[in-house]
Amino acid sequence: MKVLGIETSCDETGVAVYDTERGLLSEVLHSQVELHARYGGVVPELASRDHIRRLSPLVRQALRDAGTRCGELDAIAYTAGPGLAGALLVGAGFAESLALARNIPALPIHHLEGHLLSPLIGLDRPQFPFVALLVSGGHTQLMQVCGVGRYELLGESLDDAAGEAFDKTAKLLGLGYPGGPALAALAVAGRPGRFRLPRPMIASGDLDFSFSGLKTAVLTLARGSDLDQQAKADLAAEFQQATIDVLIAKALAATRRCGGRQLVVAGGVGANLALRAQLSAAAASEGIRVIYPPPRLCTDNGAMIAFAGAARLAAGGAAPGGGAFSVRPRWPLQDLSPAS
Ligand code: KG4
Ligand code: ZN
Repeated sequence: MKVLGIETSCDETGVAVYDTERGLLSEVLHSQVELHARYGGVVPELASRDHIRRLSPLVRQALRDAGTRCGELDAIAYTAGPGLAGALLVGAGFAESLALARNIPALPIHHLEGHLLSPLIGLDRPQFPFVALLVSGGHTQLMQVCGVGRYELLGESLDDAAGEAFDKTAKLLGLGYPGGPALAALAVAGRPGRFRLPRPMIASGDLDFSFSGLKTAVLTLARGSDLDQQAKADLAAEFQQATIDVLIAKALAATRRCGGRQLVVAGGVGANLALRAQLSAAAASEGIRVIYPPPRLCTDNGAMIAFAGAARLAAGGAAPGGGAFSVRPRWPLQDLSPAS
């Protein structure tokens, strides 16, 4: 079965075709980074308008790259939430209309379910159940994943998400948008030991996180002095290390608590190479295997939506709809029902 996947929840227009027998047939992406860069963050109205401009040509390209005609699709999956309302509506409207025209099911997909299942797209696939560390711009959560749609929340950030903390700290250091990759690049030149930041909630005994204090600590340090480039790099490295230390401690504690041996990392911060290297090493010393999607599938993309749609379609129960739809800009993952 072939599923077209459409992702438009924020500032990336992602489209892909996933085949349940042959795997990922194509994936194309347009990033709006340049469009929003001058504003220092995502401007929702501009995001929606750009999705409208890009979506149709990207769908044509994804179908062409997959060697598939529209008539050969079995379903169309799209991100229905959480995300920016206007941006979500562009993808939902497109997907629902095309599905109605072709008389095939349209599958509204939870964006975080897409991230959570994305490691299953690759060759090195985890087996259910596994623990997932979901670290994106909007969420930092630890989940036990027992099957498609069977997610148990183990802990989450009480304030900022890890990606949000990266973005805000990058802004404080005068780096552009998006901040995460820029801060990670600057941190490479940083020297450890010059600054010391807290490791928030590392010893709290639960699986929750808090990152907003870290950003405030950076602000306090940066405000008091005129930081030169090396000092900024040192501070970036210490911020990144503090974040990584907390993520590793909690993710391994969660895996231990669930009695498993597999830990999956998903979401944009999962593209951070320092996190990957240190987490893999720490986990290996405890006999835990860490599975990552390829870096390009950590950040938002159409492939994860096509895959989640295919998983739900394979579980059965999807029928062509009447074209009515809604999106959910706020949508707790625990509201999902298991795939039967
Ligand atoms: O999953 P994602 O693409 O979008 C959301 O669903 O939020 O994650 C985006 C987040 C942003 O906060 C971005 O700064 C962060 O992931 N990010 C990174 C890196 N690449 C992206 N953070 C740290 N290091 C990176 N290399
Ligand atoms: Zn995302």
